[in-house]
Amino acid sequence: MPADNPTPSSGNQLKHICIIMDGNGRWAKKRFMPRFAGHKAGLNVVRKIVSSCVEQEIKVLTLFAFSSENWRRPEKEVGLLMGLFATALTREVKKLNENNIQLRIIGDLSAFSEKIQALVADAIALCADNSGLILNIAANYGGRWDITEATRQIAEKVKQGEMSIDDINENTIEDHLSLRQIPEPDLFIRTGGEKRISNFIIWQLAYCEFYFTDILWPDFDKKVFEQAIRSYSSRQRRFGRTGDQLSSLN
Ligand code: IPE
Ligand code: IPE
Ligand code: MG
Repeated sequence: MPADNPTPSSGNQLKHICIIMDGNGRWAKKRFMPRFAGHKAGLNVVRKIVSSCVEQEIKVLTLFAFSSENWRRPEKEVGLLMGLFATALTREVKKLNENNIQLRIIGDLSAFSEKIQALVADAIALCADNSGLILNIAANYGGRWDITEATRQIAEKVKQGEMSIDDINENTIEDHLSLRQIPEPDLFIRTGGEKRISNFIIWQLAYCEFYFTDILWPDFDKKVFEQAIRSYSSRQRRFGRTGDQLSSLN
């Protein structure tokens, strides 16, 4: 029997939303603009969705900003994205702090420039004592990387004699992932029409509800966001049980 899986009592409470913000490049192309214009427009939408989450008292928002595979893009686009990341870290953080937001960056930060690493450290430190929305930005993040890192850390503990192989269970792995101690995502949204996970938080998506929309990220707004939330509210999360079992509990 699964040790610590969600129970029906968690119902359709919406604590954690995660989003693959896709379609920036196509949005710009449609307007005969460089792809980067789409990324810039996308940042404005991030601001709106973060504020919507604060208003709706969502506990956690996890946004996929740059995947471990996005380094494969043309050098110029990667460079511009890094510049935008640095600008966002500099300009947005004050507002995040004023809104009591707990900012976290998940991913392999060692690949970023020293300047970006320093900006990340400063931003996290500024928001460290906040108690509101947890905002996870996945940057140079890959779900496989995350699970590999967790495995490495656990193996090291076993090697040092701090843990026995028999103690390893699903909770052990969860406790070593980037999103440890954060409730699992309830709702996954992907804009831009693609129906794939693209190596996002693959472990945590095991029982998440999926919502795909063709809307390109720069066109995403509070209205579509609310549609996604409504769709989530109408779903029955069974976690392996039958519908009848759930009805008898309610
Ligand atoms: C998502 O938009 C943003 C990043 C991956 C950084 P895209 O840049 O992937 O936009 P499309 O999919 O090419 O339209
Ligand atoms: C996924 O989008 C990563 C982000 C949104 C940051 P991509 O546009 O890079 O995904 P694929 O490569 O089309 O699957
Ligand atoms: Mg894309």
